[in-house]
Amino acid sequence: MRTFSTPKEMQLFAKQLRKEGKVIGFVPTMGALHEGHLRLIRKARREADIVVVSIFVNPTQFDDPEDFARYPRTFDEDRYKLEMEGVQVLFAPGPDDMYPPGFSTFVEVKGLDRYMEGAYRPGHFRGVTTVVLKLFNIVMPHFAIFGLKDAQQYYIIKRMVEDLNLDLEVVPHETVREKDGLALSSRNRLLSPESRKQATAIYRALKLGKELIFSGERNPWKVKEEMLRFLKEEAPLGEVDYVEIAGVPDLQPVSEIEGKVLLAVAVRFPEARLIDNFILSPDDRLVWNERIN
Ligand code: PAF
Repeated sequence: MRTFSTPKEMQLFAKQLRKEGKVIGFVPTMGALHEGHLRLIRKARREADIVVVSIFVNPTQFDDPEDFARYPRTFDEDRYKLEMEGVQVLFAPGPDDMYPPGFSTFVEVKGLDRYMEGAYRPGHFRGVTTVVLKLFNIVMPHFAIFGLKDAQQYYIIKRMVEDLNLDLEVVPHETVREKDGLALSSRNRLLSPESRKQATAIYRALKLGKELIFSGERNPWKVKEEMLRFLKEEAPLGEVDYVEIAGVPDLQPVSEIEGKVLLAVAVRFPEARLIDNFILSPDDRLVWNERIN
């Protein structure tokens, strides 16, 4: 596996690959790799000649310095996992490589960041879109894969790519879950055994919301209220930041459930904040992200 730490070296290599006609698939990560990341990587392996994975804990997308400090960093283990998966290129820059002194350009996707994560983590998506655009320019991929656990992030990045006429495909990947439904996340490893047990309530609350909607409930407030009540009972250690039902792809809260909607939840446990979602199309009785796979 080739490893690059400076944008210049990585970009030169990407240019060379493109000249040779290679298809570059890209999986951006912040490390602490788990099975969810590995599924994205395997998908990229099937569809690209060369897979580039980046590991960069991006400081500009953390609104809370404590969260940034606590974010798990397992670089040696990650490297080993990438080698085992047959990844050809690792891009692992440091903060100064990505944000040298004088750095002053940021990218913002307006409106889509107004609710849910955007409302609870001010500046988060500005940091995400800025770093992702930089990574796209450095890695020069033909496609990049993003997990749908971060559904709002996926729709925002897709919007940015469209708005800025970037020449690559943004590919979604279904959320990967533990056997009990908990969505895989690098933050899960921070949970105490009791929080871990209660965290399954998030998935069960989403299932409850789905069942209400599929049985004909179209009032979002009623669905949200039931889900909230359920979470309070089943996960007393967690503080619910939000239960939201938003339109797709505009991500604005709906006043009636119709068309495709995002059912999203965020819960703060003492050790870590977790998010999860289902994407539903009630008229066709379709649901994305529910499967335990
Ligand atoms: O989803 C993530 O891990 C991060 O937000 C990303 C896309 C790697 C940008 O830092």
